[in-house]
Amino acid sequence: MALSRKLVQQRSSVFGSRSMSWWRSVEPAPKDPILGVTEAFLADPSPDKVNVGVGAYRDDNGKPVVLECVREAERRIAGNLNMEYLPMGGSVKMVEETLKLAYGENSEHIKDKRIAAVQALSGTGACRLFADFQKRFRPESQIYIPVPTWANHHNIWRDAHVPQKTFHYYHPETKGLDFAGLVDDMKNAPNGSFFLLHACAHNPTGVDPSEEQWKEISKLIKEKGHFPFFDMAYQGFASGDPERDAKAIRIFLEDGHLIGIAQSYAKNMGLYGQRVGCLSVLCEDEKQAVAVKSQLQMLARPMYSNPPVHGALVVSTILGDQELKTLWLKEVKGMADRIIGMRTALRENLEKVGSPLSWEHVTNQIGMFCYSGMTPEQVDRLTNEFHIYMTRNGRISMAGVTTGNVGYLANAIHEVTKST
Ligand code: LMR
Repeated sequence: MALSRKLVQQRSSVFGSRSMSWWRSVEPAPKDPILGVTEAFLADPSPDKVNVGVGAYRDDNGKPVVLECVREAERRIAGNLNMEYLPMGGSVKMVEETLKLAYGENSEHIKDKRIAAVQALSGTGACRLFADFQKRFRPESQIYIPVPTWANHHNIWRDAHVPQKTFHYYHPETKGLDFAGLVDDMKNAPNGSFFLLHACAHNPTGVDPSEEQWKEISKLIKEKGHFPFFDMAYQGFASGDPERDAKAIRIFLEDGHLIGIAQSYAKNMGLYGQRVGCLSVLCEDEKQAVAVKSQLQMLARPMYSNPPVHGALVVSTILGDQELKTLWLKEVKGMADRIIGMRTALRENLEKVGSPLSWEHVTNQIGMFCYSGMTPEQVDRLTNEFHIYMTRNGRISMAGVTTGNVGYLANAIHEVTKST
């Protein structure tokens, strides 16, 4: 029997008001300090606009790059493989190759099967999985995070409900490492604390400890019984050689630490949107590694079940083939070298336009980013007056600087910094 119109109205108003009230208290989330910059850039119709915000490599024409080794791997993969689910821990072959990059081709730890490792949703996913693991098995622990760090690190450990502490890292006056501050903070932290370290090409500062300093840090962390967790999002981007960029990790391994590592192929293979990476935890023995891996999988299963297959196939195809791997190493070096060239060009252009400030740090810092020292207000002026988009902490993604825009960029930076 048809419901009367009045009854229908009454019902819909009851259900309507109920459903309305579910999300009434939800406020819009603040813009992401990095990805929000890309959104603003895309919305700007100016033909002069420059994006040096997000850390994503561009060629000298400002265009995104698909590496030749990736194109070739995709040709080989095409049509040859099925799209079945990967295991919860991801592609065994990809993980094996990835561990060699971090722990070394002939690593004893790999041979002894002491590493619990799973494919992760790029570096972010690897960090998040570790943070959740930390919370589950060390519920009382905290994480010490460098100041500054990649903004998303804070979100990751916050959402995993791990309390955060900070340690000194960057010295604003020298625009270099605050080594004394870092050492003090590590000494003063309670024994057995977790420390987040950037393995190379620190984001956002481009400031890495020297080899000698890494050795001291490793020794200190050992004495204090801290747990070092490395985020290695830029292996290859610091020196152009992934092997050299693993130096900090190798020092810690030689010193007998148990460590964790988040690895990512977003930057060094240009697989940004494929979300392919790896989380590894070096354990005391094989038995422990089996247990830890099973628990990492247990964390992954209710979150995303198993990781995506395509990017993992690309990586294992490249790293499993000597010819493609050699091509990859050449291409990584090419990307790093172009960035190094742009550092020199930016500094020279700043000096040429007559900036009285010192821009030495532009060439001293390494990796994808230059931590310019510009204030948020100066960055706002760059954006509003010159259509130059970057994060408000003054970080310039050197990957977005080209021979075509470096002069314009230098001139604009000079304009907004000259009264300081
Ligand atoms: C960056 O720092 O710009 C990149 O790591 C991209 C991101 O996800 O924030």
